[in-house]
Amino acid sequence: MTKPTDKLSPNYFATLSARVAALRAAGYDVIRLDIGSPDLPPAVHIVEALTCSARDSTSHGYQPLSGSSEIRRAWAQLYQNQHGVKLDPEDLLPLLGSKEGVFHLSLAILNPKDVVLIPDPGYQTYAQGARFAGAEPVSFPLLPENGFLPDLDAIPIETARRARLMWLNYPNNPTAAVADLEFFARAVEFARSYGILLVHDAAYTQVTFDGWRAPSILEVPGAADVAVELNTLSKSHNMAGWRLGIAAGNAEAITALLKLKTHADSGHFLPVQDGAVAALTGDQGWLVTRNAVYQDRRDAAMTALRGMGLLPHSSKASLYIWCPIPAGWRSMDFALHILNTAHVSLTPGIIFGPRGEGYFRLSLVRPVDVIETAMNRISNRLKVLY
Ligand SMILES: Cc1ncc(COP(=O)(O)O)c(C=O)c1O
Repeated sequence: MTKPTDKLSPNYFATLSARVAALRAAGYDVIRLDIGSPDLPPAVHIVEALTCSARDSTSHGYQPLSGSSEIRRAWAQLYQNQHGVKLDPEDLLPLLGSKEGVFHLSLAILNPKDVVLIPDPGYQTYAQGARFAGAEPVSFPLLPENGFLPDLDAIPIETARRARLMWLNYPNNPTAAVADLEFFARAVEFARSYGILLVHDAAYTQVTFDGWRAPSILEVPGAADVAVELNTLSKSHNMAGWRLGIAAGNAEAITALLKLKTHADSGHFLPVQDGAVAALTGDQGWLVTRNAVYQDRRDAAMTALRGMGLLPHSSKASLYIWCPIPAGWRSMDFALHILNTAHVSLTPGIIFGPRGEGYFRLSLVRPVDVIETAMNRISNRLKVLY
């Protein structure tokens, strides 16, 4: 019997985790540089706010389906401080992580056969959400010669006319590319001229290096007419397990998403929301120190990769390095070979789409010494191979 879930691909990381567990059970020390789950904890004041709230006997019931007014106000404050964008807290919708928002927004607004423009390579949930909604994902390439930004003029007019939704994500997973406000302004104009809902997935705006400031698409005047931005505390505040995201921007899309969510989930545990309020409104100075830690890891990994004769692309933000694999390999075979022989887990580029073939993604989620050990192991394998 066919089921709706037949339309979904297996989640690569679920399969990978089973393989890593088997290697570890066999006694191998596997270094995971695959998934982008921050290894560092959130700041102490955040955890204290959560535990303090959890001790309150009144914290344990169902919460308003659109989140506490405090958390919506706290997100609005962050946007004001970080981006100079004034948002009405009443228009914001908390999410159970931005992944939930990506998937459910697709279900909330797409009709069968709608075209959805997705980046290739790109975060897998964009295509999975579109397929599950019965829509048609049509990819646009992110090419190194364009700085991994889409060439909006190269999207065929007929495709643009049929498109209902378009996904963007900068700083980008998996390429680590960044976009400036001028690009976002052009993307908003493109969406406006074709009547497309533009969704910017801003998961990495606060993980930046070398003084780069990543803009929000909502900094473009009038963006909310056509755009939604999804944001999350997962990477920005080392809170991936907390499942805390937000949708901001286009009111019609957010209302549709809330309607769906009132049937699909019942919001967050209040102490989690209270911790998030502390994260969003408390001292943000620790993020500078945290970003410096990632930057050191990036530098260590870049130096080692170049020392192996590889040519990683620059990484001004995100948790990732996007690197071409040695000639003659398919990315899945290369990642598997490195996992089985060097016991280092990298993400094969192909899982992000056909244009990801020929690359691997390395996540900066282990300390410098562990990254250096991993790089030495890979280097030794490459010496055996070449
Ligand atoms: C581009 C992108 N969007 C969304 C997510 C999901 O983040 P969250 O933990 O908020 O669901 C990720 C996680 O890796 C991501 O890379």
